Amino acid sequence: ANTPMTITVTGAGGQIGYALLFRIASGAMLGIGTPVRLRLLEIPAGLNAAEGTALELQDCAFPTLASIDVTTDVSAGFEGTNIALLVGARPRGPGMERGDLLQANRAIFAPQGAAINAGAADDVKVLVVGNPANTNALIASAHAPDVPAERFTAMTRLDHNRALAQLAMTLRVPVSAISNVTVWGNHSATQAPDIAHGIVTDSRGVPQALPEALAGVLGGPGAVAEWLGGTFIPRVAKRGAEIIEVRGSSSAASAAAAAVDHMHDWVLGTGSSWTSVARVSDGSYGVEAGLISSFPVRSNNQAWEIEQGLEVSPAVRARIDRSVQELRDERDMVRSLGLVP
Ligand code: NAI
Repeated sequence: ANTPMTITVTGAGGQIGYALLFRIASGAMLGIGTPVRLRLLEIPAGLNAAEGTALELQDCAFPTLASIDVTTDVSAGFEGTNIALLVGARPRGPGMERGDLLQANRAIFAPQGAAINAGAADDVKVLVVGNPANTNALIASAHAPDVPAERFTAMTRLDHNRALAQLAMTLRVPVSAISNVTVWGNHSATQAPDIAHGIVTDSRGVPQALPEALAGVLGGPGAVAEWLGGTFIPRVAKRGAEIIEVRGSSSAASAAAAAVDHMHDWVLGTGSSWTSVARVSDGSYGVEAGLISSFPVRSNNQAWEIEQGLEVSPAVRARIDRSVQELRDERDMVRSLGLVP
């Protein structure tokens, strides 16, 4: 077997935690050959739920699960951690604006970033799921000066997977047939789903450009443009709200599945297609350096590299610019609170 990996999950007593921990423990994230040591970090209000989840994890008798610790101590929670999944966040209450939410989350992500800086393993990889994910990741990263900024990511994989699912259903092909789709920008309704470079591969292995395949099904390029702007983009960007409306609570299992995919690909590689990850910008595609924004990326040697040289259409460009402006506004807000330099 490989060396055991220590994985910290914050918000372990919440609904995403409940959907996520069993999949990690079963080997879905890192493979069944890698034993996992789970660290469940909660606040006192969520401690019982996390402890109950730990009992159930024992009862699964997963061969990959090496140990489980439940704690409310932030330092202990991140000691020696290889993989940190920051799920716990302050949920948006009624009438709460994004600014209020950022305020509430400062108390969470600043100390967690500091604890990661002080005690995590040298190879620590961080995924922020708790919203507003991109800016929470920025806060955590700012408090972890010794950890390379590239190791702090925020989750747009759920948006990416939602896009793949909508495309597959529209084209009546398996999800696995679709590659090279991108979600750019912020994990919010301003995100920019982009299919321009997408490819659909048929059962004989013959590739076709996604826009062309869509034109075949929808009835020409005009119909594709209309579908993208009127159906596809709003459906993907507002899917979270749709789930809340239909299910009665927010996405949990799909968010957990996306977190598993994100870390799986980061550690084990992306394969033939790129995926979407919010990582620190190096200025690529005109996104202000230092912001944590979603890009098309591949994982090489356990590092997310931004796919270079893609042509960006004017419509997508306009959407990216709006979304990046929103990220800048959020950054300025947490900067005014003294949370990021
Ligand atoms: P939940 O409310 O069921 O669970 C959150 C848990 O976090 C609670 O048990 C709470 O006690 C815990 N928590 C709060 N502060 C904490 C802290 N400082 N340290 C450790 N634990 C803490 O919420 P749910 O449904 O599990 O969602 C979690 C977050 O994920 C939310 O912010 C939600 O908006 C976000 N989300 C993000 C998605 C994405 O695609 N990036 C998709 C779906 C949800």
